[in-house]
Amino acid sequence: MKSPTKICCIGAGYVGGPTMAMIASKCPDIRVDVVDLNAERIAGWNSEELPVYEPGLYEIVSEARGKNLFFSTDVEEHIVDADIIFVAVGTPTKTYGMGAGRAADLCYIEGAARMIAKVAKGPKIIVEKSTIPVRTAEAMRTILSANSGDGEFQVLSNPEFLAEGTAISDLQNPDRILIGGERNPKGDAAVEALVSVYNQWIPRERILTTNLWSSELSKLVANAFLAQRISSINSISALCEATGADIDEVARAIGTDSRIGPKFLKASVGFGGSCFQKDILNLVYLCEHFGLPEVSAYWESVVKMNDWQKERFSTKIVKTLFNTVRGKRIAIWGFAFKKDTNDTRESASIYICRDLLMEGANIAVYDPQVPESLMHADLRYVGVPQETIDQQFTVCNSCEEAADQSHGVAVLTEWDEFKEADFSKVYENMFKPAFLFDGRDILDHDGLRDQGFDVYAIGKG
Ligand code: NAD
Ligand code: UGA
Repeated sequence: MKSPTKICCIGAGYVGGPTMAMIASKCPDIRVDVVDLNAERIAGWNSEELPVYEPGLYEIVSEARGKNLFFSTDVEEHIVDADIIFVAVGTPTKTYGMGAGRAADLCYIEGAARMIAKVAKGPKIIVEKSTIPVRTAEAMRTILSANSGDGEFQVLSNPEFLAEGTAISDLQNPDRILIGGERNPKGDAAVEALVSVYNQWIPRERILTTNLWSSELSKLVANAFLAQRISSINSISALCEATGADIDEVARAIGTDSRIGPKFLKASVGFGGSCFQKDILNLVYLCEHFGLPEVSAYWESVVKMNDWQKERFSTKIVKTLFNTVRGKRIAIWGFAFKKDTNDTRESASIYICRDLLMEGANIAVYDPQVPESLMHADLRYVGVPQETIDQQFTVCNSCEEAADQSHGVAVLTEWDEFKEADFSKVYENMFKPAFLFDGRDILDHDGLRDQGFDVYAIGKG
């Protein structure tokens, strides 16, 4: 198989955009076209204000854009002569029909496969970049071969492990690249063609090759294990509060055991993001499908614990504010699901705001990256009426402004700038007692108590 000279990626989202920008910047001899049906998104990628906020992303996009990196809505045109076609479309949880609330909705994957089959000419390598249920490659292969004329397709699985907020360093220096392919000469050749792309900046020993199903399943399992660690530490945070132990001290004590390791042990108001919950529910559904109810229940508990952690936080605020928040202003610091991203999908903040709005609170929110229109859409999606949003939800330009005349401040995203807030001004302008709820354990709690704040922090007894 000749070395690839043209790559096309279907889907210009949080994965398609950054991963393709990295490939283009590392492989100057390869032309990379990122295509999407969403014209607004493509216009964003071609502008100075990229649709994805990610430290370092603008630099690599602007370096390669117009040279060997292109963003376009001409989806079919760029599929035609690409050697490798990445599919990086969304695979959200199904909201309808069979498996609703658990199974992955594969309609965008199927749409992409049908489009490839319709227009592709000559041999092509199709790469599943999206996170998908095990054996999706089989369905893709069937659609492709049943609908194409002369097309000869090899389907590979190449899941993405980047985390938002650190996407560029994750792509630059990944722990591993995983490529799954069919175990036969044509499959092996396709795997090697993709290996040759990554090998331009990633050492060969960090590029793992497996069969298709191991690769597809490993992505779901990696996310499930990561999320499980957060639910585990969050479950212990409740026990810390009941016993007087300190969750950060416990995390340090267990994390220094090299068998456990220190990462992903930060207790929080609950994990968010577009993938952890979706991928675990997908795993749960798969286990049910394959007649493994015990395995399915085991993994579902990770999501249940996460839901409980969010509820526990909202309840703590209401109880602390003397069992009523009606008409009280509560400042929410942070709406994104983690720092250094403008992504709000499944952010704990959405659910805490919803709970407090439904209790009658007035919410004053500040987030350095999330636009007001997205906050409104997220709240409507979880059932808050627009009227309630209009009357009780205000977006502010700084964390101090949000805290002004408030009864409580809740830190829900760990943005670094919150640690630098002017706390004497915040305290002065709050109603007393001045309650502060640190849902990320990022503030200096003893110092804040000395300043007069009444502090609640996750997992601090
Ligand atoms: P996203 O929703 O940001 O982007 C998907 C894009 O695909 C959208 O812009 C949509 O318009 C486009 N699209 C859908 N159908 C199309 C079609 N037929 N032709 C052209 N464009 C089409 O999603 P994302 O966050 O980039 O995630 C994509 C996949 O990657 C998901 O499966 C996700 O689980 C996985 N993933 C995401 C992350 C992450 O950090 N967000 C990390 C690893 C893996
Ligand atoms: C996660 C995985 O880390 C990536 O490897 C994976 O590629 C990606 O999902 C995906 O498949 O989409 P992401 O969701 O972007 O990445 O970000 P994480 O850093 O994993 O954080 C997820 C959530 O867990 C955030 O809300 C974060 O605040 C929370 N978290 C993380 C904790 O509460 N405690 C921790 O110790 C770590």
